[in-house]
Amino acid sequence: MLDAFGGQRGNTQLARLFLSLIAAVLFLGMSTQVDAQEASEADVAHTEIFSEEVFPSASKCAACHEEIYKEWSSSNHAYASISPMFHKFEQAITNLTQGTIGTFCVRCHQSVGTTLGESRAAPLWERSQVSREGITCITCHRVKDTYAKANGERRIEPGKIYSPVYTNSDGEGLKKVLEDKSYYRVATNEEERGNQIHTEVVKFTQISKSEFCVSCHQVAVNLGIKLEVVWDQYRDSPANAKGITCQECHMGKDPGLPNGYARGPAAVVTGTAIHTGRARHKHPFSVPADPLAHMGLCPPTAPRAI
Ligand code: HEC
Ligand code: HEC
Ligand code: HEC
Ligand code: HEC
Ligand code: HEC
Repeated sequence: MLDAFGGQRGNTQLARLFLSLIAAVLFLGMSTQVDAQEASEADVAHTEIFSEEVFPSASKCAACHEEIYKEWSSSNHAYASISPMFHKFEQAITNLTQGTIGTFCVRCHQSVGTTLGESRAAPLWERSQVSREGITCITCHRVKDTYAKANGERRIEPGKIYSPVYTNSDGEGLKKVLEDKSYYRVATNEEERGNQIHTEVVKFTQISKSEFCVSCHQVAVNLGIKLEVVWDQYRDSPANAKGITCQECHMGKDPGLPNGYARGPAAVVTGTAIHTGRARHKHPFSVPADPLAHMGLCPPTAPRAI
């Protein structure tokens, strides 16, 4: 696989990842006691088992956000929970640490499943659909706390499909639909008939900032060992100095370049497009040529080594 500089980066990146993981294991081995304590705290938290009902699957959102659903379906975010590579690495680390690593890996790659209290070792076919969806709609749109570098320890708000969604918007489009529920045939509670819809858009500004992505894209295990270093690379980049966000490059109309957003509706309710011509954030989170190493500011136009 060729990267922006024409180098063969895929294998070295994997090798680097593997070495970081081995290093992580050595240090985790040294902190067994802390981890065991953390594990028992997690057990207590999990006695409160949530039902899948309160963590809606992306397929529910697809009823009105079909285009975004399709974009997301092809993303690595949708792949995070089912990736065979992830499971191989995760199992190897669990064996090496004799289990003391606990839910460290799954709470990020299988965030909703972990919140639901599913066992770390549960195979995919025993997991709920929303857990198999990895980084799914509610992983990003049911978050109301601002996190910095959280290693995946982010709280997802529980609630049925009617519960609020969070994003950087005043929700005018939704308000219009809710004003005319019978025309749009939407249901805002169990008693009503129609397409079940969230009843509010809560303004959450951090979702527009790079820090929102960093809560997962910077993984530090212990004593400065970092599995994922995107934030470190980005922080020192010219893009950050210019105030260009992760979203501008990874959700804009041209993958990898801050050339503005596409336009069009984000929701179609019972055949009617809502809020047409609005800015659309693309959800495949594509990376040009899908390279494996991040360069911070690394447009494909960068000078090539060969
Ligand atoms: C809840 C954690 C989480 C959040 C929040 C998150 N990501 Fe991710 N992201 C992941 C995981 C995990 C993967 C890798 C999944 C896999 O391949 O197994 C990933 C993959 C990606 C990829 C694909 C990389 C490739 O090699 O193709 C891009 C690009 C990306 N994320 C960008 C973003 C941006 C931009 C944001 C902020 C708007 C963001 N992510 C927020 C967890 C997250
Ligand atoms: C804080 C969130 C987080 C945690 C915790 C985490 N990862 Fe990841 N992981 C990511 C992100 C983000 C990516 C995407 C990296 C990229 O494309 O640059 C990723 C990518 C990967 C990949 C390569 C993509 C794939 O699916 O093949 C593997 C393998 C992986 N992680 C394994 C692990 C293992 C094993 C652990 C536990 C030791 C772990 N991860 C813990 C966020 C996390
Ligand atoms: C029955 C239809 C329907 C369903 C199902 C639905 N939505 Fe929406 N949603 C809408 C409409 C209509 C809007 C307003 C769109 C606009 O203003 O562009 C909206 C707006 C949003 C917004 C805010 C957009 C903005 O900028 O104001 C987010 C985020 C969102 N939905 C996420 C979700 C998620 C996540 C799910 C699944 C848990 C979901 N939606 C399920 C109809 C629906
Ligand atoms: C990795 C995080 C992430 C995931 C996963 C995710 N979104 Fe988003 N979504 C965002 C961000 C970031 C924005 C742009 C917020 C802003 O700055 O206005 C956004 C914007 C939106 C909007 C407003 C319309 C637009 O294009 O700007 C809707 C509606 C929406 N998302 C629905 C969904 C649905 C439905 C899913 C699942 C199929 C989903 N999102 C998955 C991060 C995410
Ligand atoms: C100026 C535009 C730009 C900004 C800002 C930017 N990226 Fe990237 N990103 C790229 C490009 C271009 C690539 C492909 C890199 C290559 O060709 O080597 C990439 C690659 C990636 C990858 C996959 C590479 C890997 O390490 O496996 C991830 C994940 C990613 N970016 C996440 C992020 C996150 C998270 C942020 C914010 C902290 C961010 N990016 C900010 C342009 C950008």
